[in-house]
Amino acid sequence: MNGEAPLLLRLGILRIFDTLHILLPMRTIYNWCRYAFNLKVLLRNANFIKSGAPDGLPIPPPFLIHEVSGVYDQRAFFDNGIDGANCIRQNLRRNNLSIESFGSILDFGCGCGRVLRHWRNLPKTKVYGTDYNPRLIAWCRENLPFASCSVNSLAAHLDYPDATFDFIYAISVFTHLTEDLQVPWRDELFRVLRPEGYALLTFQGTRHQHRLTEAERRSFGSGNLIVQQSRYPGMNTCQVFHPESYVRRLFSRGGEVVDFIPGGATDAGGQDVVLLKRV
Ligand SMILES: C[S@@+](CC[C@H](N)C(=O)[O-])C[C@H]1O[C@@H](n2cnc3c(N)ncnc32)[C@H](O)[C@@H]1O
Repeated sequence: MNGEAPLLLRLGILRIFDTLHILLPMRTIYNWCRYAFNLKVLLRNANFIKSGAPDGLPIPPPFLIHEVSGVYDQRAFFDNGIDGANCIRQNLRRNNLSIESFGSILDFGCGCGRVLRHWRNLPKTKVYGTDYNPRLIAWCRENLPFASCSVNSLAAHLDYPDATFDFIYAISVFTHLTEDLQVPWRDELFRVLRPEGYALLTFQGTRHQHRLTEAERRSFGSGNLIVQQSRYPGMNTCQVFHPESYVRRLFSRGGEVVDFIPGGATDAGGQDVVLLKRV
C-alpha cells in the first residue's frame, strides 16, 4: 500500500479536479508553466528550428507535439518518429512483410504526423492519415502534402469505402479509447482494411502495470480492460490498459492475431504490438 501512495495521491488529485470540472484547464496551465520555465528545452527547440528538421519538412509547434506525446522537445519528437517508423518496419519484417509492398496505408490517429512524415519517400504507396483532433489534421494537411489527411469522429466511423487499405497502423490510439469504443473501432478498421490486409496496433500492457492501483492490477490480471479518466475518451488524459488476453479476445473477431510482441513499440514507451490479418 505504501509503495502506491504517490500513485493514489496523483489519481486522487486528478479526481478532485475532475469533480470540480477544472481538470483540463489545470492541466493546460501546469503544462504551459513546465514548458515556459524549461530553458534547456526552449534552447534546444530554438536550435532545431534554426537548423531545420533533417528530412526538410516543417516540424510541428511544441504545443501540438505535447498534445500527442506529452513532451515539448521538437528534436526528440523527430527522432522518436524515426524510431516509430523503424519499429513498424522491424515488426513487419519479422513476419516477412514490408511497408514498400503495400499499395495504400492508413495511419489511424496520426496526430501531427510523428510517424507518418517518414513515409514520404515510399515509391508506390499511397499514404493516408486520420485523426479526430482537427488541429492536428490541419497541421498535417498544411505541412505533409504527400499524405491525404482527414478528420474523423470520436465515434467509430471513417469516410473511406470498404477494403480501401492494404495496411493500417495505430500507435497508441486504442490506449485512449474507452471500453464502449473498442469493439466499434475494431469493426470499422477491419471494414476499411482489405481482406488479407494487415493492421498493426499498440497497447499499454504488462509493462505499464506500475501505473495501475493494486485493485486495478488485480482486475488487469484477470483479463479486464482498465480505463482511467473515462470521462475524456480520445484524449491522452484517458489512459487505457490492455491485458494480452483482452487484445487476443477483441481481435479474434474479423481478424487473426499473426504476432504479439510484448514491449515491441520502443518509440511508444514499450507498448505491446499486435499484428493482425483481416480474414
Ligand atoms: C498518444 S497520441 C498518438 C499519436 C500518433 N499515433 C503518434 O504515435 O504520434 C493519440 C492520438 O489518437 C488520436 N485519437 C484518439 N481517439 C481517436 C479517434 N476516435 N479517432 C481518431 N484518432 C483518435 C488523438 O487525437 C491523438 O492524436
